[in-house]
Amino acid sequence: MLAVDPTHSFARAGWLLRAARPSDLSAVSALLASCSLPTEGVAEQFGESYAVAEHAGEIVGVAGVERYGPHGLLRSVAVAPQWRLAGVGSALVRDRLQWSEEAGVQSIFLLTTDAARYFHRYGFRVVARDVAPAALHASREFSEICPASARLMRLEEDAALRDAVREKYAKAARDAAHGDSSCCGGGCECSNPVTGGLYDAAQVAEIPEQALRASLGCGNPTLLAELREGETVLDLGSGGGIDVLLSARRVGASGFAYGIDMTDEMLALARENQRKAGIANVEFRKGEIESLPFAEASVDVIISNCVINLSGDKPRVLAEAFRVLKPGGRFAVSDVVVRREIPASIRRDAELWAGCVAGALEEWKYREFLQSAGFTDIEVVPTRIYSADDMREIGVRDSLLDGALMSAFIRATKPAKEAVRHA
Ligand SMILES: C[S@@+](CC[C@H](N)C(=O)[O-])C[C@H]1O[C@@H](n2cnc3c(N)ncnc32)[C@H](O)[C@@H]1O
Repeated sequence: MLAVDPTHSFARAGWLLRAARPSDLSAVSALLASCSLPTEGVAEQFGESYAVAEHAGEIVGVAGVERYGPHGLLRSVAVAPQWRLAGVGSALVRDRLQWSEEAGVQSIFLLTTDAARYFHRYGFRVVARDVAPAALHASREFSEICPASARLMRLEEDAALRDAVREKYAKAARDAAHGDSSCCGGGCECSNPVTGGLYDAAQVAEIPEQALRASLGCGNPTLLAELREGETVLDLGSGGGIDVLLSARRVGASGFAYGIDMTDEMLALARENQRKAGIANVEFRKGEIESLPFAEASVDVIISNCVINLSGDKPRVLAEAFRVLKPGGRFAVSDVVVRREIPASIRRDAELWAGCVAGALEEWKYREFLQSAGFTDIEVVPTRIYSADDMREIGVRDSLLDGALMSAFIRATKPAKEAVRHA
């Protein structure tokens, strides 16, 4: 279905879906009020971002998307009682989602007190309120109009994949907390070809054993990132916290290390590891790497260890990394990278996705996405190349993958201020 435009309308069974006109505002406000939805602020953005359903000249349904910078807020989804269960609400929501895509809206949120289950079917998922981008946070809808009890939902095209990833790492965190290593850095016997033997003896001595046990990375970004005293570091997908704790030691008391992770169990583990390590210049925040809860230009170095491959929206992750880095800031991550085409059947496998295999980017794509985000000085340095035997050890039995995947260190720079301004 095409998003409606002001010159076209689409006839349905007895009703019409069309773009809203300024003259619809009072009827729309009356409909919202009759459905106990807020009318405050609707007039401010009423126009082409709203669609209405009309029957016999009467407005029987409405939905709108308010714009906050590159983000959208779906609001005012209302259908007159006698038109419920007739597909009106569904048509309006789908139409507005398509309109948003065509209008270049990057991410779509909504606030709801009682309709989370309804919106779940369109791919919206409840997220922590602090995940909302700053522009949305500052909106009247967010800060005044909707009650603080309203739940924030975000449209997730890859909701199933994200759920698989979250479940896998929640279990890994629980296992690590109970002393079962999913694998480890270098402090215990570990032969996993991806996660084993990443940290040297000096680093192992610096952090609690439990942090090592929880290590699920595929490299050692703290060694390669050349961290300096006083710097602010942000680790994307910090897991049990190993790289955050090591970074905090590197940047010293005048620096600070943040970790961000979406999995509650991992955050609890990381905070416990911080407590055991007795390191103060660290904070673990809940959030998603596609929408970082950090201000623009607030971080010197972004590190990450085997996480970006797990995201269903890598360009957005890299754009977010670019946004929060200070001019001249460094991006220095370890990740799994594809060296040549891998079968589509593997790409579709959610379990392999959650295991860092199916979601990995080809090297050329990684470079292209980094460049599109604005980064320069891009380098991709292989650190381990995986044979069919290595793959078998991590449970992937597909000889086509022999040599197809590698762990790599990926480095890039956000240009210094002058270069950004004149770009
Ligand atoms: C492979 S583990 C790596 C953990 C840690 N970096 C390490 O080296 O041990 C992936 C971690 O990223 C987190 N994660 C995955 N996707 C994420 C996302 N989109 N936003 C935030 N965290 C994410 C998971 O919860 C998990 O803790």
